[in-house]
Amino acid sequence: MTSHINDIIDFDPEVFLKQYWQKKPCIIRKLFPDFSDPVDADILAGLSLEEEIDARIVSCENGNWDVQQGPFNTEDFDEHCVGNWTLMVQGVDNYLPETQFLTEQFSFIPHWRFDDLLVTYSVAGGGVGAHYDEYDVFIVQGMGQRRWQVGHKLSSHSEKLYPHSDLQQVKPFEPIIDIVMLPGDVLYIPPFYPHQGKSITECLNYSIGFRAPNQSELFQGIADGILDNDILTKRFSDPNRELTNKRSAVNEHDIFVLKQLMHQFIDLDEMDYLLTEMLSKTYHPIHDDYALDSPYSRPEMLQLINTGFTLTPNLGVRPLYSEHQINEFFVFFINGHRFEADAVDRFFFETLLNATQLNVGHKDQLQFSSVDIITKLVNEGFYSILD
Ligand code: SIN
Ligand code: CO
Repeated sequence: MTSHINDIIDFDPEVFLKQYWQKKPCIIRKLFPDFSDPVDADILAGLSLEEEIDARIVSCENGNWDVQQGPFNTEDFDEHCVGNWTLMVQGVDNYLPETQFLTEQFSFIPHWRFDDLLVTYSVAGGGVGAHYDEYDVFIVQGMGQRRWQVGHKLSSHSEKLYPHSDLQQVKPFEPIIDIVMLPGDVLYIPPFYPHQGKSITECLNYSIGFRAPNQSELFQGIADGILDNDILTKRFSDPNRELTNKRSAVNEHDIFVLKQLMHQFIDLDEMDYLLTEMLSKTYHPIHDDYALDSPYSRPEMLQLINTGFTLTPNLGVRPLYSEHQINEFFVFFINGHRFEADAVDRFFFETLLNATQLNVGHKDQLQFSSVDIITKLVNEGFYSILD
């Protein structure tokens, strides 16, 4: 194994964004000094039994790859955890507050780009083979030692291999990174860089993944909002139509005008909100049990504000707002829900939405409408009051 090929950096988020983010892979040694695993194999196995959790077991025995999709029951583990196997559980950030320090380390990248935390447990020899992902990922090494190799960037047209119908791999590649990761080390991999991890010992890995919508996802994502929106009503018109003898032809000018209609609605200010609303939606619904059985009334909330208290977002909450606000309210979205606050309290709400904890008190001099919003945020389970 040669070491000169490895790009090892001292972590400075600003330098990282300039030189590596979306550009090239790198290793950050000991980004988490004295790393202590927030989960263990049993906790992970327990999560993979849950109906709403996306989990899979990838195994390779005598060269035969297998993929099993959860949810599992306890007998499944005996049957499928064979040979070199890995248990992968998606969206762990939505369930275990003790994993929050991992995602918070990367909060210099905006919340809307974050996808989820994938946690994998693998036995010695375990791995999912050489592959690439379309998203950026930071892979944190927990317990154990794992050899990671990363190759030169591929294109989306590169040849893919399917040793199992649910497992996409690529051909062996020449590594530009080849390293043994130790607890607390981090490997950053941009989209389309082929990589593979092979456990040297029993391992836990934490993949903090980021998402980036493509054009088709953007269109699908805003479609509902467009259909519900009563300002997007401008209709095609053709008062200067010219004679044709080709009734099946849609002429260049017609296409131009139709496209213009589409451009115009995309350029509407209201689209800023539709996009923000869409980006605030997550694949994982937040827990129903965060909603309060005995909700606060406005007088009770005013009382709390008078004495002072601390608010914190519940797990899985993704609050977003567009910096460019286009009307007299401050509009923000939490997991697809729209809130409109009085513009005079914009600073308060911006601070709240960007914080992991915020002390609220009478110093904030909030409008009644803002007190009502805070009451709703707590009653409906988006935020909790810390004891
Ligand atoms: C793994 O930890 O084995 C999978 C993570 C990845 O390569 O994306
Ligand atoms: Co990967």
